[in-house]
Amino acid sequence: MCGIIGYIGEQKAIPLLLHGLKSLEYRGYDSAGTAVIENGQLQVQKAKGKICVLEEKIAGNFGQAKVGIAHTRWATHGRPSDENSHPHMDCHKEIAVVHNGIIENYLQIKEELEQKGHVFVSDTDTEVIPHLLEEYYEGNLLQAMEKATKKMRGSYAIVAICVKEPDVLVAARKDNPLIIGLGDNENFFASDIPAIINSTRNILILQDGELAAIYQDRVDVYANGQKVKKEIVRIDWDAEASKKGGYAHFMLKEIHEQPWALNQTLQGRIEEEHGKVYFHDFSMSKEEAQRIHKIAVVACGTAYHAGLVAKYAIEKLLRIPVEVDIASEFRYRDPMVDQNTLLVVVSQSGETADTLAALREGKKKGARVVAITNVLGSSISREADDIIYTWAGPEIAVASTKAYLTQLMAVYLLTLYLGDLLDKIDLPTRQKMMEAIYRLPHQVEEILQNLVPELQQLAKRFAQKNDIFYLGRGMDYAVVLEGALKMKEISYIRAEAYAAGELKHGTLALIEEDVPILALATQMDVYEKMISNIKEVKARGAYVVGFTYEGNTDLTKTVDHVVYLPQTDDLLAPILSVVPLQLLSYYTAIERGCDVDQPRNLAKSVTVE
Ligand code: F6R
Repeated sequence: MCGIIGYIGEQKAIPLLLHGLKSLEYRGYDSAGTAVIENGQLQVQKAKGKICVLEEKIAGNFGQAKVGIAHTRWATHGRPSDENSHPHMDCHKEIAVVHNGIIENYLQIKEELEQKGHVFVSDTDTEVIPHLLEEYYEGNLLQAMEKATKKMRGSYAIVAICVKEPDVLVAARKDNPLIIGLGDNENFFASDIPAIINSTRNILILQDGELAAIYQDRVDVYANGQKVKKEIVRIDWDAEASKKGGYAHFMLKEIHEQPWALNQTLQGRIEEEHGKVYFHDFSMSKEEAQRIHKIAVVACGTAYHAGLVAKYAIEKLLRIPVEVDIASEFRYRDPMVDQNTLLVVVSQSGETADTLAALREGKKKGARVVAITNVLGSSISREADDIIYTWAGPEIAVASTKAYLTQLMAVYLLTLYLGDLLDKIDLPTRQKMMEAIYRLPHQVEEILQNLVPELQQLAKRFAQKNDIFYLGRGMDYAVVLEGALKMKEISYIRAEAYAAGELKHGTLALIEEDVPILALATQMDVYEKMISNIKEVKARGAYVVGFTYEGNTDLTKTVDHVVYLPQTDDLLAPILSVVPLQLLSYYTAIERGCDVDQPRNLAKSVTVE
């Protein structure tokens, strides 16, 4: 995930910028760079790799510059390289820009600018920004930025400097965080608080659509062309908390990043005019799609659970049979895949040994392999035929949360993409799905804002237990498997998930007085069946927490406590219903004093068989 810092003040800029970048290292990145204005010229240094490589290049030559910008890049458009690192510059090397986000219409802008004679040196979407600023510059960088933002589609936090105005840094924000740090005769821009917390604890938070100009002794923020007055926010985090964005653990931070991460997976993949899905790294012809007789999904752990959701979604909407396998099973069972099989491998890290071996097995048998992964340049992304990146940013906590949600989003996008190719989804259904998909990030945000106190109370109760059962039907079954895994891995409570209709075939024997049961009821075609299953466990004295949509108040008659979720299409419900299960696992683990981010015996990337 990229990081930004900008500085203007009385101190030497380069050491401050480097220090800021280092405090953003935890976000993950693959290259870094700085640009400062010195003696009326831009001095730019960029390097692929860690910040220490950049430091070696700079070699202590900090100069006297008191204004500059810097960036850590996590590659999206264009591989990690010196050329693709930020800052990027215009043709005359007078304007330098750092950017977080994605400019969706960059190809079109680039083409237009090239026709006007602009020369590009990188593969990035970002490079169009300094060239656009150059095009619009008439002596005022802020005005040029305003014009540029009208031209660009997508998401951005941008900070720019120009040698012709060495007393100002200019910024724009849309769907990517950007703050201003207020110092004493110095000011900062930053994508994250840790970058500036050593220098100041007073910040302004920019909102979407706002532009800002910072000077050594003044800060101006504009919305819709008018100056706006912003409230100063005081940050009182300690150093440890600041690495985790103010959250107590990376897992909690990553849970809270999910609305942002879902938008990342979505953005740039929906055609504006018709709402059709498209991918940059993956395209299939109608004929190729028609040849698919079977889809095989292969993954491990949480990613496998995303695969189970894929089965329900694809079979329901496309009527193509889907087999879902645990990778370590798939590779040794001589799987029945051939050139008419689309093999979808799902892996956050892209390095999981079993999933990689399953990919190779599938390829050997002639299957076309699409990888859904989060890590650019990972082994799986290199060996797959096609890649759908989830763009969730680095996931640091061992227990996967935002990677799972974005894998689900990628699965839905793939389903809609194939559905369009095969004419399997009629227009009203697709439109309804798309509208519901667009609402999801906001609805996850609602859950995060509204449900925490209630889940913390439930966690206190669950933390005392040795066993917890999870029940669901249809897609809810896939989700409770993930909910139970989360609970097991971080709280060490035996948590087992069952298809609710299967209970009476054995497991019901385990249900006794006060045993906690989490029951999902978001699949309306089996809602009444689910209520009957809940009654079966209630009759044996279980303490049942039900999860259903707002409005389904009848559930209160059957269960002990209801957690309400925002309304959505049943097919998309997993993206919402898993979030309270993640939070419940987290708070239960906290109650039990467990090491949430690094649970015993587990590793983040499982590169051994
Ligand atoms: C659980 C978890 C694991 C991973 C599994 C696969 O929270 O993170 O179950 O999902 O090890 O990892 P990736 O997705 O990297 O292949």
